[in-house]
Amino acid sequence: MAATEKPLVAIVMGSKSDWELMSNADSTLAKFGVAHECRVLSAHRTPDQLREYMADAEKRGVEVWIAAAGGAAHLAGVVAAHTVRPVLGVPIPSTTLQGLDSLLAIVQMPAGIPVGTLAIGKPGATNAALLAVSILATTRPELTKKLHDYRAEQAKKVLSETLP
Ligand code: RP5
Repeated sequence: MAATEKPLVAIVMGSKSDWELMSNADSTLAKFGVAHECRVLSAHRTPDQLREYMADAEKRGVEVWIAAAGGAAHLAGVVAAHTVRPVLGVPIPSTTLQGLDSLLAIVQMPAGIPVGTLAIGKPGATNAALLAVSILATTRPELTKKLHDYRAEQAKKVLSETLP
């Protein structure tokens, strides 16, 4: 998105190694024309910078957070601790446990500080972006129309499939 455009969604990820998967969230938001920004910030490696970035991003208009991390994935929970905006967590597949550890770490938030948890990996990254669009669409009819068009496109594709 153009640097001058006010970001509505912020995607944070714990490591640059998460980008390959999280680029799917980035490209999905871009497809819907939703202004957003992506940052590498870690709950345990850069805790102060994460908090500072969040405060600044919300001042600049961020309304929805997407947080992706793998392993002992506490990033989404920490992001949720610092905001009352919706937080969508994406579990990144880890090397040893294939992302089951990330999923459980993100989904098992104790009552009081919610994180909406998506599927592990690429489907989760794409759906986090789509859910962010849905949240924004509650007050933006142009996004509602785009979501309907997107679904119609999917239905058309499925109905046009032929089997060998
Ligand atoms: C998490 O640890 C990151 O989100 C990443 O998924 C995982 C591994 O990070 P690197 O060791 O590749 O930087 O914090």
